Amino acid sequence: MYNVAVIPGDGTGPEQVREGLKVLEVVSEKLKFKIETVTYDFGGERYLRTGETLPENAVKELSEFDAIYLGAIGHPHVRPGILEKDILLKLRFELDQYINLRPVKLYPGVETPLKDKGPEDIDFVVVRENTEGLYAGAGGVLKKGTIDEVAVQESINTRKGVERCIKYAYDYCKKRRNKKTLTLCGKTNVLTYAFDLWDRVFNEIGKEYPDIKREYGHVDAICMWMIKNPEWFDVIVTDNMFGDIITDLGAIIQGGMGIAAGGNINPEGVSMFEPIGGSAPKYGGKNIINPLAAICAASMMLEILGESRAAHLMEQAVTKVCVNDIHSLSAGKMGYSTSELGDLVAKYIQDS
Ligand code: IPM
Ligand code: MN
Repeated sequence: MYNVAVIPGDGTGPEQVREGLKVLEVVSEKLKFKIETVTYDFGGERYLRTGETLPENAVKELSEFDAIYLGAIGHPHVRPGILEKDILLKLRFELDQYINLRPVKLYPGVETPLKDKGPEDIDFVVVRENTEGLYAGAGGVLKKGTIDEVAVQESINTRKGVERCIKYAYDYCKKRRNKKTLTLCGKTNVLTYAFDLWDRVFNEIGKEYPDIKREYGHVDAICMWMIKNPEWFDVIVTDNMFGDIITDLGAIIQGGMGIAAGGNINPEGVSMFEPIGGSAPKYGGKNIINPLAAICAASMMLEILGESRAAHLMEQAVTKVCVNDIHSLSAGKMGYSTSELGDLVAKYIQDS
């Protein structure tokens, strides 16, 4: 039995999570394990109602679960930065989820905006450092609001932080059945302090993995190659900010936010899984959002919990929906409602 904390969150988050839980229920019943959930109402509504983002004991409480399943955080009536920093980033940091694992996989039947590219070309994983870099909040502001204003935002890169992220990426690459190539995405020609550290650690640790081919690309060039030659990539490792940017690019080449999922992973602690698109408030409550990203996030959660077969069944069911049923991944254009799509995935699992 697994205990999972569920944070449906804002906008379309609750609908997406609802379908993910529906599918988890079916797959766990089929494979005879149990998932118990506790739901938390963290998000914009709660903040507007109570002024509180995360209650004091939240992190401690969440740390006792086997995993966390998150919908989306972000509310149109809350100033940007508050919910992101005090809920999402706070959980990532305080639960030390130092890896953000984001597969970029084009499912068969899904349309990519890349001409002449198919599922055999678009199948790689980004390992994004998730607790440091520009996200660490280092820096400050002087003389705010005057013409002499100074704003400093520094990128924090610790030897320990870089090392554990790169090590995870090598190990992950070793386990994948693909090309066994790890690409470091950096900017060694300009960010000569931070990415010099990354580059040295990358090559040092790489010696312990003689079967893995090492590649390096500057982040700007990698953006270009992700479009021109996505088939070159197997696993990409990068810092927090670059990882944020290239995984949105990754999401769009795999068909869009409707299917892009990610895991915030603490290999020694509790991990949190989420569809990587935002809360899309304009679609919220309409039963038109695509739940596949949340379903894929739930499948990643099962994989990390050790339920590989269940994770695989979910993946297979998602593939079937993409090949047989769905017209488009975009909200409102799928040819099905959110709940109908969840039902379809559930049915494929039942029938498999
Ligand atoms: C993501 C999001 C977050 C990030 C925001 C909402 C803080 O864009 O998960 O990629 O920048 O990490
Ligand atoms: Mn992002």
